Amino acid sequence: MEIIIRADTESATKLAAVLIVHALLAKPHTVLGLATGRTMERLYAFLSETNRENGVDFSLAKTFNLDEYVGIQATHKGSYRHYMNHHFFDKINIDKRNTFLPNGTAEDLSAECAEYEKKIREFGGIDLQLLGIGRDGHIGFNEPLSSLQSRTRVKALTPSTIEQNSPLFENPSEMPRRAITMGVGTILEAKKIICLVTGSSKAEVLAKAVEGPITSMVTASALQLHPKCVVIVDGKSASLLKEKKYYDWIFNNEPEWEPYRANKQQDGITG
Ligand code: GLP
Repeated sequence: MEIIIRADTESATKLAAVLIVHALLAKPHTVLGLATGRTMERLYAFLSETNRENGVDFSLAKTFNLDEYVGIQATHKGSYRHYMNHHFFDKINIDKRNTFLPNGTAEDLSAECAEYEKKIREFGGIDLQLLGIGRDGHIGFNEPLSSLQSRTRVKALTPSTIEQNSPLFENPSEMPRRAITMGVGTILEAKKIICLVTGSSKAEVLAKAVEGPITSMVTASALQLHPKCVVIVDGKSASLLKEKKYYDWIFNNEPEWEPYRANKQQDGITG
């Protein structure tokens, strides 16, 4: 795991966008694992901008989202399908037939989960998985005590997640209490992972996830097991990290990060 601390939310988010663009330039038919949440809105705005202004091509990309609520239609404004179309897919030149989310209204939810796993395998697995962290430490909707080997399945949401996400519904009481989510085991099979965490409300959980013990109480801590995971954070979310100087030294000195330092990020989008 590597931790990159950028001064503010804007530069942390931009760096995550640049890394995604570079993966796409290197492999146009990249299979992206995508996340939702407020943190990702700005990231998708950056990526849409690269499509519009720098001609970054998404036409061959395939995407699999981490999760979807159970029991609401894709057309519901609170659904993650609606979120993805609105913030990203409608703004880029992706073929929507290549954008996948679990179907939270399937009659047989277990069959839907097994089918989702199968489809990811058929597409050759996820090349690059994007993640955020929920306030209770979840990745996807892998709530505390999720098995670190779990696969795609239905999960009941914690009160903390309901409190965090229900304001995103026009009518907060409509927020479903269950969701289909890729499992921790599914996520850990991605070839690379980028986790983006910003804001002071995430400082405590970020410190637990990256510097604390691996525990199913904080499923993001399982990212410590992944061989190619980059956690990009802003100054506020990094405030409780103990080894900040070490992380900064790596970013400022290791050759692989040279193109992404200081003001070179913008060049990185096209370069
Ligand atoms: C939801 C998603 C998570 C995401 C989290 C963070 O719960 N299921 O994948 O990481 O939101 O949300 P935010 O960016 O709004 O803090």
